[in-house]
Amino acid sequence: MDERHAPVLMEETFDLLRLQPGETYVDLTAGLGGHASRAAREVGPEGLVALIDRDAESLRQATERVAREGAPVRAAHGNYADLGEHLDALGIATADAVLADLGLCAVQLEAGRGMSFRDETSLDMRMDRSTGMTAAEYLNDVDEAELARVLREYGDQPGAGRVARAVVAARSREPIRTAAQFAAIVAGAAPRPAGRSRTHPATQAMMSLRMVVNAELPSLERMLPAALARLRVGGRMAFIAFHSGEARIVKTYIDRMRGKCQCEPGALDCRCGRERVLESLTPRAVKPSAAEVSWSPLSRSAVLRAAVKVAVWPT
Ligand SMILES: C[S@@+](CC[C@H](N)C(=O)[O-])C[C@H]1O[C@@H](n2cnc3c(N)ncnc32)[C@H](O)[C@@H]1O
Repeated sequence: MDERHAPVLMEETFDLLRLQPGETYVDLTAGLGGHASRAAREVGPEGLVALIDRDAESLRQATERVAREGAPVRAAHGNYADLGEHLDALGIATADAVLADLGLCAVQLEAGRGMSFRDETSLDMRMDRSTGMTAAEYLNDVDEAELARVLREYGDQPGAGRVARAVVAARSREPIRTAAQFAAIVAGAAPRPAGRSRTHPATQAMMSLRMVVNAELPSLERMLPAALARLRVGGRMAFIAFHSGEARIVKTYIDRMRGKCQCEPGALDCRCGRERVLESLTPRAVKPSAAEVSWSPLSRSAVLRAAVKVAVWPT
């Protein structure tokens, strides 16, 4: 799990976003407001910081923190996939810069939310607890083959079929109610990793469950075009991903919108209808420095990509 306290890739992100005083910065994943506070200092009192988060508690804390920096702040609670509606509600037509720092933040790992495998009270896992199905409801209902697919595709879970079977057997005896219960079922069914791994055997399964319950990849797929549509020409967008599936979606989208041909290799002429709307600012994905990884080990899987909008879109 990415239980991070310090904002990751801070300097690298703001070097790429190049915020100017007076600009409008939209933080799609306010979290605890670490990146957004830095943005508030850079855009200053003439600028504007918009905060969005699915997690009402994180958003509240981030709004308070960012407001102390002196830039005007507006906040919207909800899924960044609905970015257009959030910006309309906040009275913001276009942004100069947007950032999404994907994943979880520390508030969400507190007991009672079921995000940590130590949690003996809950298996909720929703980032937005006002809507949708909890992880317990999902797990007590999902089809075995579908669960195996989710564990395999999102978490690369060793023995995914065996783990799914163990979940179905356990829930036929009694419903699965807590994260600790789920983690114990996974630990009992998954093959032991070779060597002495310090990672809990349920780490990947917990992450897969969280990703499916929060529809994380489909939300990201909807958010990217919504963010690009609301960026002014010359505006910058940056994304920090922690999961290979998220990183791939971001890379593919930037490549497509910077006009990289998506046709099958060897195709005689280009028919993919490529557009040149973005220019990549990160020819190679940016990763945390060795120093950052040493003081913040959970940053090690972070991958940053950024791009600048160079043409009107949609036309
Ligand atoms: C890693 S934290 C962000 C930390 C933040 N950059 C900071 O400096 O404190 C990720 C945040 O994104 C939020 N989040 C994840 N998926 C979301 C979505 N689809 N829509 C809105 N917020 C989302 C989570 O609730 C969490 O608070």
